[in-house]
Amino acid sequence: MSAPDLTNPPRAASGEMAPTHLLGRLWREHVKAYWPRMIAALVLMTIEGATLGAAAYLIQPLFDQVLVTGNTAMVTWAAFAIAGILLVKAVAGFGQRMIIVSIGLKVVTELQARLLNHLLTLDGRYFQDHAPGALIERVRGDTTALQALASSALMTAGRDTIALVSLLVVMFATDWRWSLLALVGVPLMFFPVVALQRLIRGFTHAAREAASRLSTQMDEIFHGIQSIKVNRLERHQSEGFQSEVNRFLGQQRRAERSKAATPAMVDIMAAGACLLVLMVGGAEIVAGEKTVGQFMSFFTALALVLDPVRRLSNLSAQIQAGRASLERLYEVLNARPHIFSPASPKPIDTGDVSFDNVHFAYGDAAVLNGLSFTAEEGKTTALVGPSGAGKTTVFGLLTRLIDPVSGAVRIGGTATTEVDLPDLRDRIALVGQETALFDQSIHENIRLGRLDASEAEIRAAAEAASVLEFADALPDGLATPVGPRGSALSGGQRQRVAIARAMLRDAPILLLDEPTSALDAKSELLVQEALTRLSEGRTTLVIAHRLSTIRAADLILVMDQGRVVERGTHTELLASGGVYARLHALQSAGEGADPQGALDHADDTRPNKA
Ligand SMILES: Nc1ncnc2c1ncn2[C@@H]1O[C@H](COP(=O)(O)OP(=O)(O)OP(=O)(O)O)[C@@H](O)[C@H]1O
Ligand SMILES: [Mg+2]
Repeated sequence: MSAPDLTNPPRAASGEMAPTHLLGRLWREHVKAYWPRMIAALVLMTIEGATLGAAAYLIQPLFDQVLVTGNTAMVTWAAFAIAGILLVKAVAGFGQRMIIVSIGLKVVTELQARLLNHLLTLDGRYFQDHAPGALIERVRGDTTALQALASSALMTAGRDTIALVSLLVVMFATDWRWSLLALVGVPLMFFPVVALQRLIRGFTHAAREAASRLSTQMDEIFHGIQSIKVNRLERHQSEGFQSEVNRFLGQQRRAERSKAATPAMVDIMAAGACLLVLMVGGAEIVAGEKTVGQFMSFFTALALVLDPVRRLSNLSAQIQAGRASLERLYEVLNARPHIFSPASPKPIDTGDVSFDNVHFAYGDAAVLNGLSFTAEEGKTTALVGPSGAGKTTVFGLLTRLIDPVSGAVRIGGTATTEVDLPDLRDRIALVGQETALFDQSIHENIRLGRLDASEAEIRAAAEAASVLEFADALPDGLATPVGPRGSALSGGQRQRVAIARAMLRDAPILLLDEPTSALDAKSELLVQEALTRLSEGRTTLVIAHRLSTIRAADLILVMDQGRVVERGTHTELLASGGVYARLHALQSAGEGADPQGALDHADDTRPNKA
């Protein structure tokens, strides 16, 4: 059987989208709404940019009439005029910066929220391909990098263009021949700048990837801190981290170096320009063809024009760097879930849960090989079998975290792929093999089972799942925080919180994946009773390694290698003397004289170890 590769879908070909396309999308989807404010910023930028030209222009009368001819009345006038211009520049500059930065922050936070929203729609496969740290880096790092670059690029594009134009006007008005001499180097810069673009984009992309790997590594280190300490892997981990940091540093340095190269080229060009103009202009002043004021005005403009030109020459570098982040963001936004509701969903019926010749594989590794069974409505069906047999996979298929490669999973006769996805999940309460607790109070963690549950219902669930038993002993009771991922609770306590959550959910289908595996004998007994009460009237599927916990099940399915190899009730299976009977004998053997009592407190003897 050749199963289609489900874990590695073809990558979205978004990497090579045209920059204009990506920027256009960003504009339409996130920036356009702010256009009135953008116009206001543009007006302020125009004012700020023009002040440079005005200041350079005023240098001429200052020299020619005030300093050279000694017109003292003009001194005050010129002083106030220049001070006034600088004041206007300050106010306009402050205003436009505030507007641009605040729009930038808004756009970035919107983008971050949108990214998270979108990520929540994607299925497990995406998260298996993209580590948590790398995704955090995209949502936080790339959006922030984009904002910084976009803000400064916008300011440059607006203010510096105007400044450049106004200064060029002053230069050309003073002497067009000097101006042409000053600008003779500009066309020479074109090709090197274009060549640099590619380098910058490539290096920035690599640097962002390296940043992702850094975040991933940190995420894994902090989550695995205990096993790192116990196995004394601190040094090994910090060395690994150091080499990743070095890789990041290398890429970032290369990116920055190529970015810095363009302004440097501008300066080299400027050196040539000054040289040429001084040689020609100086001679003309000596000959009396030009006034000192004109010469000073021209040079002030030439000096002032360098900054905007430097920044403008860097503009496309910034756009390239921003594009690297933008590509990574749109790669996330373009990713589509593979599991979603059908266009016209069928109504979902309650009824038997059935698997009909279901095949499933992760990549090339077949996990389920023609699994067929029916779990009757309102009854309890148990799944047992060795580790890796595919039991948890059955729950993944039922909740549609994954879809079968072939065959059908049905509820009440309707395939799960034909019903509305949220509807389907609304009908299921799951206590998973790994309890997912969030860094909130015990109370809040239970409430996640049903957000509109009343206080009394939450307490009742906490009571039934024996959560109160330990919570009441804590200083803040149910309000006690559980720590990151529930780390402040013991394994058994976490499991009880997860059970309380499932109880609160009050769903017709109950999926329990080794729900009491981490509990001590006494709490297991209590919780087991509560679960038995809960499962009454619900279609319950329970996975267990400890056979004692499922002996009362209406049907027991023994799974091996993705198939059901035996089925029947506890008594029937014992009588038939197959796998189950052997497993049972093995588990009872370690339990001493009283087989009945011992079975109820049986150890977690994993059959796969046999
Ligand atoms: N996300 C995944 N990606 C790739 N392979 C997976 C993934 N999840 C499970 N598998 C593989 O699928 C097989 C069945 O896994 P499953 O979790 O269903 O086993 P199980 O019967 O629940 O085992 P256990 O009793 O240890 O919980 C295993 O061989 C496992 O390696
Ligand atoms: Mg499992």
